[in-house]
Amino acid sequence: MAKWFSLVAAALVAAGAAAAAVEPALTVAPPPYPREMDLPQSNYVEHCGGCHGIQGDAAPANLPTLRGRVGWFMCTPEARAYLMRLPNVARSRITDNQDLAELLNFMVFGLGGSSVPKTAKPFTADEVARERPNAYDSVSLIETRAKIVESVINRCGAPKSLRLLYPGQPKG
Ligand code: HEC
Repeated sequence: MAKWFSLVAAALVAAGAAAAAVEPALTVAPPPYPREMDLPQSNYVEHCGGCHGIQGDAAPANLPTLRGRVGWFMCTPEARAYLMRLPNVARSRITDNQDLAELLNFMVFGLGGSSVPKTAKPFTADEVARERPNAYDSVSLIETRAKIVESVINRCGAPKSLRLLYPGQPKG
């Protein structure tokens, strides 16, 4: 009887050890990856996702969160142009303006969620071509962003937290 018991116990321990060796417990669930990405999304992941996060959220890194917020910039012509004039956008290695317009559309309509105004129209290759030569360089991006964010708060009712790079960003 004692022998029986220890045999079973040994088998259970061995099975447990084998299972543990094969599959360590995951403590954090992986993000849900789409099965297949289309070109605009995969361009975003390749050219922008390394900094901004593949789902548009890199907080608490010192980077603006795009997810659920970037759509606010579609609400005035100046703010819309800001999206195209950002150095990393205007000077992107993506030379095809249609591809860049579609990447921006993925960013706004795919990641922007409820921040996108209902009347927002998709970017076109023509307007991207028009704005790319106006890439910001010498001007301070922080000041430019601050001005644009104030106008979007005042004119479109964007939340005041848009002043921060991401909600809950520590001051200083
Ligand atoms: C090397 C890191 C990096 C890459 C790559 C990058 N960005 Fe950015 N992005 C930043 C930083 C930093 C800022 C803050 C302002 C600035 O310095 O440009 C920013 C600002 C922005 C903003 C403004 C958001 C706001 O709230 O003001 C948008 C939109 C944006 N980036 C989109 C993109 C897109 C689209 C791409 C890919 C084509 C991209 N970025 C690639 C680092 C990056």
